[in-house]
Amino acid sequence: MIKYIGSKRVLVPHIVRGVAAFPKSARVLDLFSGTSRVARGLKESGRFVIANDHLSYAAMLARCYVQADASRWRDEATRLVADLATTPPAPGYFTKAFCEDARYLQPRNGARVDAIREEIARRSLPPELEAIALVSLMEAADRVDSTTGVQMAYLKKWAARSFNELELRVPALLEGPGQSLRLEAAEAAACVEADVAYIDPPYNQHSYMGNYHMWESLIRWDKPDTYGIANKRVQCKEYKSDFNSKRRIHQGLRDVFDALRCKHLLVSFNNEGYVDREEMVELLSVKGHVGVVAVDFKRYVGAQIGIHNPDGQKVGRVSHLRNKEYLFVVSERRDAVEAVVAALEASIADAALARSASRGKRKTHEVDRSIER
Ligand SMILES: C[S@@+](CC[C@H](N)C(=O)[O-])C[C@H]1O[C@@H](n2cnc3c(N)ncnc32)[C@H](O)[C@@H]1O
Repeated sequence: MIKYIGSKRVLVPHIVRGVAAFPKSARVLDLFSGTSRVARGLKESGRFVIANDHLSYAAMLARCYVQADASRWRDEATRLVADLATTPPAPGYFTKAFCEDARYLQPRNGARVDAIREEIARRSLPPELEAIALVSLMEAADRVDSTTGVQMAYLKKWAARSFNELELRVPALLEGPGQSLRLEAAEAAACVEADVAYIDPPYNQHSYMGNYHMWESLIRWDKPDTYGIANKRVQCKEYKSDFNSKRRIHQGLRDVFDALRCKHLLVSFNNEGYVDREEMVELLSVKGHVGVVAVDFKRYVGAQIGIHNPDGQKVGRVSHLRNKEYLFVVSERRDAVEAVVAALEASIADAALARSASRGKRKTHEVDRSIER
C-alpha cells in the first residue's frame, strides 16, 4: 500500500467490526476510498464493496484491490508482473519530470518506471489486469521514493530507500467480486444503492490531487505540463474539491448526505477539520440518530517529525502531537446506532489491551461516546 495522508490503516479493524454490527451490511459503499485499505478490509470480511474516489490513482487502487477477483486474475497477474519486471529501462516523461526537474525518485529507477509504464500502455490489457500491473508499478515506485509521504516537495538529500532497486511485486489480491468507481462523491452517492456507506472525506485545505500529483500523472499517463518546484500537473491549479474548501465543505457534505441511498452511515472525521463535532452531528441528524466515538490518535508523520527548513534543519516545534478521529454512526434505528457504537468501543478497547499487553504494561484507552437526537 502507498504512503497516504489520512489513510485509516489503524482504524480498519474497528471500522470492519462497526460495519458488521449494523442490522444489514452485505453491500457497502466506500465513498472516498483513497488507498482502498478500508474497502479492502470490508471485502476481506465477506462484503460486496463499491469503492469510489474521484482521482484516477485511487480508483485504480480500488480496481485492483476491490474489483479484481483473485481467483480470476492471480495467475495471469503473476506472469504479467514477472514479465514486466524484465522491461529494459528507457528514460522518458517520468524520468525528466519527476527524477531530474524534480527529484522524487532516482533517475535510474525513473527510467524503469517509464519503460514499464509504456509497456503496460502498449499491451491494451483487460481493465482488472491493467489495474494490477499499474498498482504493482505505483507501489514499487512508492517504496523507493524520496519524500516524507506527500509530493508537495522532495527531500533535499536522497532518502536511503531511494538507492534501492525498483522491485515489482504482485499486489495482495482478494477473492470475490467488487466494484470500483471514479466519480464525484455526490454523483456516486446518488447512483449507488447499498446497506451501509463509509464516508471518509478530506477535512482541510490539503488537496489529494496536489499531494499525490505524481501518482495521478503516472496512472493517467497523459504527460501533462507541470509547474513549480514540486512539478505538479497544471490541473492542480484549476481544480479544488469542495471538501478542501472551508467555504464549500458544509454544502458539499449536505449534498452528499442528501444524495445517499444507504440506510446506515459510518463517517470518519478529524477534530482538526473544517467541520467540528457539533456541526457534523447537526448535518448528519437529517439522516437519523447519530452516535459519536472519538479515538485518540498520533498526529500525522509530518507533525511527529517537527517543522524543518528547506535544508532539513529543525526550525520549530509542532503545537501538539495527538489529535482525535471521530467516528459518527448514523441510522434511523436508535438500536442500530447503539449496537455499532458498542462494537466500535469494544474493538478499540480490545486493541488497546492487546497493545499494552505487548508492551508489558496495562493501560486504559480513552474512548468518548455519545448518542444524539
Ligand atoms: C481521507 S482520504 C480517504 C482515505 C481512505 N479512507 C484510506 O484509508 O485510504 C479522502 C479521499 O477523498 C478523495 N476525494 C476528495 N474529494 C473528492 C470528491 N469530491 N469526490 C470523490 N472523492 C474525493 C481524495 O482523493 C482522497 O482519496
